[in-house]
Amino acid sequence: DVVYPFVVALDGPAGSGKSSVSKQVARELGWGFLDTGAAYRALAWHAEASGVDLDDEASVIACLDSFDYGIGTDPAGYRVRVGGTDVTEAIRDPGISAVVSRVARVPDVRRHLIELFRSIIAAEHRGGIVVEGRDITTVVAPDAPVRILLTASEEVRMSRRAAELGGRDAAATGAQLRARDEADSKVVEFMTAADGVTTVDSSDLDFDATVAAVIGVIRDSQPVT
Ligand code: DC
Repeated sequence: DVVYPFVVALDGPAGSGKSSVSKQVARELGWGFLDTGAAYRALAWHAEASGVDLDDEASVIACLDSFDYGIGTDPAGYRVRVGGTDVTEAIRDPGISAVVSRVARVPDVRRHLIELFRSIIAAEHRGGIVVEGRDITTVVAPDAPVRILLTASEEVRMSRRAAELGGRDAAATGAQLRARDEADSKVVEFMTAADGVTTVDSSDLDFDATVAAVIGVIRDSQPVT
């Protein structure tokens, strides 16, 4: 029999803290963690490294054939690889953030990566997995027993992202974050919670309190030890 892991689906906008929060929740529960945005970022990195014009959809789609993506689900040793290259840090570059929406908006890319995410989830060997992104609660794992939308006011998200980048150029960072959310929300809706999705607003919560709030939602949904 196939035993499926307990899936926590968590969506949210850029700068909501969903990646670091999800990773910490997974650590505390001893579960796996999957950052789906990393795959879109890694594909954008791969396309650029291959000299592909990101506005040329057919070429972006062709890039999937040579996209050798490697990601583990251990929240403690999280590395992202493309072929033999460790791109864990490279895909966080603002240059990638600025272009990633262009690959994420291509339907064939989404279909391909959604299948990949589902196979990674099914292969999870820990008891559960926290999966974060933009369309996890609605498309990737709409049947997940726990579905959460992690939000924060735009102001808070911008200051968090600016702090993450070492306080460099806060105005430009804010503008970029807004532009990306706008582009991304044309492809998938993640600014408002879908039916049955629990909203956790982290605007007035620090990191630990946000982690505790998410774990609270998980515990409320089913007894977790
Ligand atoms: O969460 P992030 O900033 O690392 O995501 C990178 C990009 O990938 C983001 O601009 C939108 C896209 N994305 C998506 O379309 N669907 C997902 N499930 C996750 C990310």
